[in-house]
Amino acid sequence: MRHLLSTADLSPSDALSILDTAEEMSAVATREVKKLPTLRGRTVVNLFFEDSTRTRISFEAAAKRLSADVMNFSAKGSSVSKGESLKDTVQTLEAIGADAIVMRHWASGAAAQLAASGWTDCAVVNAGDGTHEHPTQALLDALTLRRGWAAGRGHGPRGTDLTGMRVLIVGDILHSRVARSGVWLLNTLGAEVGLVAPPTLLPVGVEQWPVSVHYSFDEALASGPHAVMMLRVQAERMGGAFFPTPAEYTRRWGLTDERLARVERLDGPGGDGAMILHPGPMNRGVEISAAAADSPLNRVLDQVSHGVSVRMAVLHLLLSQSHDDGSSA
Ligand code: CP
Repeated sequence: MRHLLSTADLSPSDALSILDTAEEMSAVATREVKKLPTLRGRTVVNLFFEDSTRTRISFEAAAKRLSADVMNFSAKGSSVSKGESLKDTVQTLEAIGADAIVMRHWASGAAAQLAASGWTDCAVVNAGDGTHEHPTQALLDALTLRRGWAAGRGHGPRGTDLTGMRVLIVGDILHSRVARSGVWLLNTLGAEVGLVAPPTLLPVGVEQWPVSVHYSFDEALASGPHAVMMLRVQAERMGGAFFPTPAEYTRRWGLTDERLARVERLDGPGGDGAMILHPGPMNRGVEISAAAADSPLNRVLDQVSHGVSVRMAVLHLLLSQSHDDGSSA
């Protein structure tokens, strides 16, 4: 693996290899073991052109727990605001010693463009590009789902895929890089994926995706999902035109207290209610009620801690091996 740009590039064995490596990293991610020396002498740059809490901090924690040096770069407050280009920014960071660039950018395709540009020899990790992809989020979601799925079957997660698992992804699919990366990865791992959204928040061409599409959350819940992944409503990408209205959205597509009661009665992986996932940040009272946000079925904080294991695995696989073939994951 040379870069990590899209989950669509991952074969089933690539995906399982990253998830199994993340399982091996979990004792370090959770601080049972303090650090690994794997990336001593390597430097990871977090290059963020959009805001982030979970992704940036967990990449920093992941790199430090592998003994790498970390540089954090936020476009706000940098020479980007004076007009410096992406090419000059990246080459400046490489001249300071970067080996890997973890980039979040508002432009869809930015990470792939950087990896293909020839501007840098650094490994490039896509930490979210516009509405396009967020591959490490999909991997940490898959790790969370796989733990629940394997535990429900009475065995450990390593080597297990998601064959037979039914996952509903609910909400603002149109603007969601989490949904796109999730659909490709969950399909690769054998899960059955359903999308639930208002017609106005589904992308053109969704009928070509390997999913079933539902407009009614209540009908989709009747199909008996093992997991329900709620998406954040991305009002900042809607240009002030939130349609349907927030109240209608919550009533028809929100995980309300009433729908939480139905989720609690579903057969989840362990027969004790479906898993609830959310990539965060959660809009409490919009796509998810406070009771659902705080429910024991909600794995949102497990997802965050699994993000450290997954990002350790990705950095380890990218930086601790030599690549002579120029391949990307
Ligand atoms: N899930 C996610 O990408 O969160 P942040 O925007 O806080 O990184």
